[in-house]
Amino acid sequence: MSFDRHRRLRANKTIRSLVRENHVRKEDLIYPIFVVERDDVKEEIPSMPGIYQISLNRLDEELKEAYDLGIRAVIFFGVPNEKDSVGTGAYAHEGIVQQATRKSKKLYPDMLVIADTCLCEYTDHGHCGLIDEHTHDVDNDKSLPLLVKTAVSQVEAGADIIAPSNMMDGFVTEIRKGLDEAGYYNIPIMSYGIKYASSFYGPFRDAAESTPSFGDRKTYQMDPSNRREALLELESDLHEGADMMIVKPSLSFLDIIRDVRERTNVPVIAYNVSGEYSMTKAAALQGWIDEEQIVMEQMTSMKRAGADMIITYFSKDICRYLDKKED
Ligand code: PBG
Repeated sequence: MSFDRHRRLRANKTIRSLVRENHVRKEDLIYPIFVVERDDVKEEIPSMPGIYQISLNRLDEELKEAYDLGIRAVIFFGVPNEKDSVGTGAYAHEGIVQQATRKSKKLYPDMLVIADTCLCEYTDHGHCGLIDEHTHDVDNDKSLPLLVKTAVSQVEAGADIIAPSNMMDGFVTEIRKGLDEAGYYNIPIMSYGIKYASSFYGPFRDAAESTPSFGDRKTYQMDPSNRREALLELESDLHEGADMMIVKPSLSFLDIIRDVRERTNVPVIAYNVSGEYSMTKAAALQGWIDEEQIVMEQMTSMKRAGADMIITYFSKDICRYLDKKED
């Protein structure tokens, strides 16, 4: 016969496992948690079934569940009671993320805490930096010192990794400098430098109460039509000292994950964003798709594209699937 027999290596479960190229492990997962300043609530986010806004006094339940399932990295998003034009809550000593971080490090010292460094959850206008009164656009250079202040206060509270998501030019340079000057030269920066102005963030904005009150984020986040632009952002961030790179969103941007993987040796993270979660959950709740199979296929596709880690709201579900498999 003059053809190749690819089916030989697909003949049974054991041989398929032997030749499997990509795997999703608990160690790859980063679990996002929305912490609210309001007291004593655990409220499901309607557009994100299974994900909650959680008060500080209920946070230990959530952390315990995640920890017991084997999750060892969380990223906190804060929802403050009060917002103002300069995002004071982002860098307050008693800010909600600072408090959540202290609590988590005390309860589970080996749980890595990643801090999302941005102002949008704390500003009354919902933008990621300060607004220039004349242009009504975010002022890049005036926003940077506040972002540095936010990062330093997050590390003071115990954050292990800083993940700036604000998309201001020069944020890696300035935050690196600020951390170094404060003596935190060992704290890594996981840059969200490859972040698209995506409609897939809709449900997150419900959860974080951070929808912009006017305009959109297109003057600072990237146009989803662009590929080369992502590589320019990558070059800048690496040059400025980023230790790891996040690509966000993930599923409609697997080509970008692959491009980034091929152009750098730093770890690459896929952010499986809220809209991606909601779409999958909604179809699963209708009984239209097999949730476990679809979720694992999605996660594997991100690993196959080149991601080392995945930030996903499915983290707890994935741990449960993996536990079941080990039986
Ligand atoms: C900004 C931030 C956003 C997300 C993570 N960090 C929202 C935005 O840019 O509007 C979105 C994540 C998601 O959709 O899951 N602080």
